[in-house]
Amino acid sequence: MKLAVAGKGGVGKTTIAGTLARLFAREGERVIAVDADPAMNLKFALGIMRNPEPISELKDLIFTRTAADTGMGVFKLNPKVDDILAQFGALGPDGVTLLVMGTIEKGGTGCTCPENAFLRALLRHVLFKESTVILDMEAGIEHLGRGTARGVDLMLTVVEPGMRSVETVARIKTLGEDIGITRFAAVVNKVTSADVAHRIETILVEMGIPVLGIVPHDPALIQADLEGKAPLDVGGVAVERIKALKEKITALS
Ligand SMILES: Nc1ncnc2c1ncn2[C@@H]1O[C@H](COP(=O)(O)OP(=O)(O)OP(=O)(O)O)[C@@H](O)[C@H]1O
Ligand SMILES: [Mg+2]
Repeated sequence: MKLAVAGKGGVGKTTIAGTLARLFAREGERVIAVDADPAMNLKFALGIMRNPEPISELKDLIFTRTAADTGMGVFKLNPKVDDILAQFGALGPDGVTLLVMGTIEKGGTGCTCPENAFLRALLRHVLFKESTVILDMEAGIEHLGRGTARGVDLMLTVVEPGMRSVETVARIKTLGEDIGITRFAAVVNKVTSADVAHRIETILVEMGIPVLGIVPHDPALIQADLEGKAPLDVGGVAVERIKALKEKITALS
């Protein structure tokens, strides 16, 4: 399963992406967790102390591989990337491999800088070569290119009770469909009332987005965050629900 986790800022994308990655790894799968958020904090949710070198920082390698160092203003869009994961991925608890992308240049008109081309080529490579990939996105998905999106099996949107979060999901679905993502699902997180969760679920289902899980607001996660521990190493009701979510995701594939 190749999963992209997206949603409004602060809804719990990283918490859920990191926990799912470890749960898949506990099943014996080789899991690649990709931190595609410039904030680079997926490591905490995985229980990894230090980030490996962000790929965007490998300026010399990127310039050599994309042949941008010729100074001609042209560069390769298909640089060699097949050795990057082994070299720059960090192995963490349960055997998850963390790959940190670093800052991907944005720009709606399409930035054509070598770094961007390299990161996209790498992401495409990982999505097409590996069988289990969890992508922790930044709030938007604007930087997901068409070629990359084709490698994503499921866009899992995280929603917190609130209409702004639901609107973000609507936008992600429109954008995602535009770039060729075919399967969307949602998980409602930080739930404090079953009634509200039900209302959010109804709206999402009307939008054509099935809800695969409801995760309660859980002080244990805030505690884990404060202590710099992975949610899975702390446990609690939210983690139990993420385990149930993982089962639902597995049942899809
Ligand atoms: N179910 C929950 N109960 C309580 N706190 C939660 C829950 N899920 C996430 N949190 C907390 O909410 C905060 C934001 O979570 P997280 O970093 O996973 O969100 P995010 O969507 O990745 O944010 P960003 O958009 O900044 O990347 C963290 O402090 C996290 O511990
Ligand atoms: Mg995050």
